[in-house]
Amino acid sequence: MNGGSEASARRARRNVVLTAAIAGLGGLLFGYDTGVIASALLFIKGDFDLGSFAQGLVVAAVPIGAVGGAAIAGPAADSYGRRLMILLSAVVFTVGALASAAAPGLGVLVVARVVIGVAIGLASAAAPVYISEVAPAESRGRLVSFFQLAVTIGILVAYLVGLAFDGIEGWRWMLGLGCVPALGLAFGMLRMPQSPRWLVMQGDDYAARAVLAKIRVDDPDTIDRELEEIEESVQTDAKPGAWSDLLQPAVKAALVVGIGLAILQQVTGINTVIYYAPTIIEFTGVNSSAGSILAAVGVGIINVGMTLVAIRLLDRAGRRTLLMIGVSGMVISLVALGGAFVGGGGSTVASVVAILSLMTFVASFAISLGPIFWLLNAEIYPLGVRSKAAGLGTMANWTFNFIVSLTFLLLIEALGRAGAFWFYAAIGVLTLWFCWKYVPETKGKPLEEIEAEFEARAASKAGAPLPPGPVEPVG
Ligand code: BGC
Repeated sequence: MNGGSEASARRARRNVVLTAAIAGLGGLLFGYDTGVIASALLFIKGDFDLGSFAQGLVVAAVPIGAVGGAAIAGPAADSYGRRLMILLSAVVFTVGALASAAAPGLGVLVVARVVIGVAIGLASAAAPVYISEVAPAESRGRLVSFFQLAVTIGILVAYLVGLAFDGIEGWRWMLGLGCVPALGLAFGMLRMPQSPRWLVMQGDDYAARAVLAKIRVDDPDTIDRELEEIEESVQTDAKPGAWSDLLQPAVKAALVVGIGLAILQQVTGINTVIYYAPTIIEFTGVNSSAGSILAAVGVGIINVGMTLVAIRLLDRAGRRTLLMIGVSGMVISLVALGGAFVGGGGSTVASVVAILSLMTFVASFAISLGPIFWLLNAEIYPLGVRSKAAGLGTMANWTFNFIVSLTFLLLIEALGRAGAFWFYAAIGVLTLWFCWKYVPETKGKPLEEIEAEFEARAASKAGAPLPPGPVEPVG
């Protein structure tokens, strides 16, 4: 490579990383606002005199709004572009954060939290798709996972902000500060390009070429090749797809994977830990609030650290390998966590086992289902229906997030502590089977090739001969 093309490769890499990092701020906002409520609620409930139902409303408002936001972003990101949806999410989020910080009472607070939820839904449906369409195939896993990294950083920052404002009971500060990443996202996205794949879908190949020239090595042949591949996939997909296109066999096969992972990511219980970590730690017999909050910060740090490890490994070890290892780790740690509560727990050994299992569980999630659901949900659908299908996966994820966070304490009442964690472990075993059987390896493949694989999968299921081209055996 000569000096010029090396410089151009560096510039292309920088531009693409910057784009992924800015869009990833959408994840920061997602993580911050789901994480901050745990500490904020401690003081809101006193100030507004809230019972458990009203507290549940404040917490549940975000996932409910997010289901709505994802429903809007799916189709709207096809019509108006991925970039505009992310920009809109930043504006909606800023309004929601300020309104919740200034809320005079429960009604305004719940509405403001629903608004924040809508913003999170918009961002979580549009940002991973946008990043996957800007990224080159060989580093797509790493770049899309910036989104998950930002989610985990958001959760950790939220725990730390919670600690910082704990002394002055500053819940309004905790909620209001959420507008800082939102403003960063808004100003950042104003300077970011449109998705080149969306531009081709709109028939604007000229603009798509200009974007590719900024985010790829300055080599007309490479750019032509990628543009041709995109054009081809747009022709076979027949333009922005209608809802009915989701029923095509190849899209249905991809939706089984996307929606399946969306649900399994939640029903294996991650948010029982993220939202209730201090409560679970108190179950183990630790009864100082500082101790349990500190343990929650520990959980947050492990979550960020292991997501960084995943980012390094996704494009090397592959998605399937990490899923199988990570989900196995989740199952083992859930069995151990349940075991720590047999006979009521409470002994020092039981507390240590419980805390270690909790940490192992989060670490295992962070190298597997955490980043990989969002990644696959952004990369496995054909371009024509990508954002609608990704929107459906996102909606399913938030719906089950809502159900699990609402039912966790009830599940403990019904099955006992050990039974509840063993129940999540059993779903973990089901998840292993699902990943083994249905999840394709997408490492290093252009999005257009992944599309061709699902077509081959649907065709072989229907008994038709496999189309030519590289087809990876699955499961
Ligand atoms: C999940 C969230 C979860 C977070 C934890 C995300 O991938 O969708 O529900 O709170 O990971 O890091």
